[in-house]
Amino acid sequence: MDDFHYKIESGQGALWCEGVSLDDLADEVQTPAYVYSQATLEGHYDRLSQAFAPLDPLICFSVKSCPNTSVCRVLTQRGSGLDLVSGGELYRALKTGVNPAKCVYAGVGKRPDEITSALEAGVGWLNVESSQECALIGQLAEQLGQPCRAALRVNPDIQTETHQHTATGHRGTKFGVQLDQVEAFFETYGSSPWCKLSGIHLHIGSPILQVEPYVMAVQKGIELMDRLRSKGYIIDMFDLGGGFGADYQSGQAPEATVYAEAIVPLLESRVAEGLQVVFEPGRSIAANAGVLLLTVLYVKQSDDHTFLICDGGMNLMIRPALYDAFHFVWPTRVTASHIPPARTEKVQLDGLSPVNVVGPICETGDIIAKDRALPQVQAGDRLAVFGAGAYGMSMASQYNSQPLPPEVLVDGQKAKVVRRRETYADLLAMEV
Ligand code: LLP
Repeated sequence: MDDFHYKIESGQGALWCEGVSLDDLADEVQTPAYVYSQATLEGHYDRLSQAFAPLDPLICFSVKSCPNTSVCRVLTQRGSGLDLVSGGELYRALKTGVNPAKCVYAGVGKRPDEITSALEAGVGWLNVESSQECALIGQLAEQLGQPCRAALRVNPDIQTETHQHTATGHRGTKFGVQLDQVEAFFETYGSSPWCKLSGIHLHIGSPILQVEPYVMAVQKGIELMDRLRSKGYIIDMFDLGGGFGADYQSGQAPEATVYAEAIVPLLESRVAEGLQVVFEPGRSIAANAGVLLLTVLYVKQSDDHTFLICDGGMNLMIRPALYDAFHFVWPTRVTASHIPPARTEKVQLDGLSPVNVVGPICETGDIIAKDRALPQVQAGDRLAVFGAGAYGMSMASQYNSQPLPPEVLVDGQKAKVVRRRETYADLLAMEV
């Protein structure tokens, strides 16, 4: 599943990332710190691209999930394109050296200056979210004298079993154009020579641990493309968005091959006719490629609750507070009998006791893990928050004036700080 594993050293279990001991690394860079595994990033990317090889898709890594340019570059050097949603992400993308033609530029609220930058950079497609935006893209492209390709984001009206904050493919969200309004949309905007609508984009939400919603979305997408083609529009790109699951718990997410077995047969003949398929995976590549290392500052007993108060919390990993998300947490050093057999909510081992893993932030909701059975932990011990590579650092904040932690990229036996720890001076750097 990934390249984070416990090794037994003098009778004790110690957490390693590839060929690097995370305790040694934490001695060096201190905590809190994000650590990413290059082998895991590459492995997930490769599995996805191999599973979908019959479609020869363009895989655009979703930068919002883990925007560090060194992480993105690992993927772009492997052939990945990038999925961008802001001028800031475009700026990052260009720094990675990615071919802009391998980028999709999405986002429900694109500013005029962002659209202009995307046009000037020559991104492959702009994913259009509304009629006003489509008209504006056309105007700006004409002003620049530079036509662009665009895909219309369609809301396929599919209910998915995911948190209400991350479900996007049902009616009533701000995303895309309703399926039954697409043909009228094309009648108005489909023949612009500047904003050339030639693709369909969907993103049904994330994470989606079932295959069926994708099958339904693809079927609806194909029917729609056929209707548009029968009216004379040329549709040569189909972007299925992201949202494939990740193993926050061992074995929780379908393998890339399982998604592919269901999706490939539906699209294979279309690809043979010239359709370009695009995916925008974020978490399925990055989530299990990262851990957040924390140090336990205090072990506090309060009534019948034990709190492990750590040096990072919702400021660095907001997903549990925001979505009730599960992240496996385990000490970086344990007795050999406490090496976790699997990353699950209920680990079946003797000698564990229930704790709440919390951070230093002045909010009751500052929780990383609640009622979790863990081995005995003392102040000074370190914990790893697993599955933290996606939407961890990218959603971290300086709340409570906590400087952002470093990001470290491990490649085999090498560990490189790819973003340094912020200082207190950094906290004030923008204040004038
Ligand atoms: N494409 C579009 C249009 C998206 O909106 C997203 C995610 C993706 C691709 C990538 O989805 P992924 O493969 O990473 O699931 N902060 C939340 C997730 C929000 C996702 C926003 N859009 C979380 O921590 O779970």
